[in-house]
Amino acid sequence: MVTDIAGSSSPTDYGDDVGSLLSLRGISKSFGAVQALEDVNLDIPAGKVTALVGDNGAGKSTLIKTVSGIWQPSAGEILWNGKPADIRTPRDADARGIATVYQDLALCDNLDIVQNMYLGHEELRWGLLDENKMEITARQVLSDLSVTTVQSIRQPVGSLSGGQRQAVAVARAVMREAKLVILDEPTAALGVSQTAQVLDLITTLASRGIAVMVVSHNLNDVFAVADRIAVLHLGHMASSGPVTDYDTQSVVELITTGTLNHLAANSGAGAKAADTDSKG
Ligand SMILES: Nc1ncnc2c1ncn2[C@@H]1O[C@H](COP(=O)(O)OP(=O)(O)OP(=O)(O)O)[C@@H](O)[C@H]1O
Ligand SMILES: [Mg+2]
Repeated sequence: MVTDIAGSSSPTDYGDDVGSLLSLRGISKSFGAVQALEDVNLDIPAGKVTALVGDNGAGKSTLIKTVSGIWQPSAGEILWNGKPADIRTPRDADARGIATVYQDLALCDNLDIVQNMYLGHEELRWGLLDENKMEITARQVLSDLSVTTVQSIRQPVGSLSGGQRQAVAVARAVMREAKLVILDEPTAALGVSQTAQVLDLITTLASRGIAVMVVSHNLNDVFAVADRIAVLHLGHMASSGPVTDYDTQSVVELITTGTLNHLAANSGAGAKAADTDSKG
């Protein structure tokens, strides 16, 4: 069941006139007897941050991996710019401009920042690595993203802090001209100031017109950066809509029960949800 908190009648009704870059329509995914996703609809607009939340095992990573071409949906359709998109492999996702930053980051500690940013996509000149070009571009991308705490882009990634590593992984995605950047728990292992840096980076990406989808268990982070929230509960999309239609209490309730108890709440989240029903 979908609790449509914004009172929006259709999945493409944002109430803010933004089209969607990526749309999931009726996506299901099962692993043997486990139904990880069931009939999931979601729209991800460009230039906005969409936070995907849900309890452990709700299906968040499965959803991300389906969009990233790691899993094939058992049913349903993925639309890219409104047209059916056949995303069968990570390469297909990459070709469309979908860049996923997984929690383990997949960076090579022994390589420097430039080498990591170009890993697998090195610039060549006369058949040799064009170190100059790569270094100039890497420096530019990092400075565009206001990543200023790194001392040298020639230092090994293994010597960076968690937040800096996250920044390199995001910069790598940006350099590949990603249109959709997906981040799975980007701040889970970070301290306060590093978390703030990564949240800034997320906001910067969206302000440059990139669609950002971020998985987080930290609702403070979610409310700090998200324009939209999507709540998965046991593989079902329990609710999705503009962040202004939610508060912490309503999101917690959706995460834990998959629904909002309108009757129980005469103040706070439930009441707020009921009040917004006329919108749309
Ligand atoms: N490769 C797999 N094989 C079998 N079952 C899987 C596989 N991947 C995920 N599942 C199952 O699918 C469900 C959703 O898992 P998923 O990893 O998507 O959850 P999640 O929302 O990312 O949770 P968490 O917050 O703990 O990361 C779980 O029941 C999980 O056991
Ligand atoms: Mg997960």
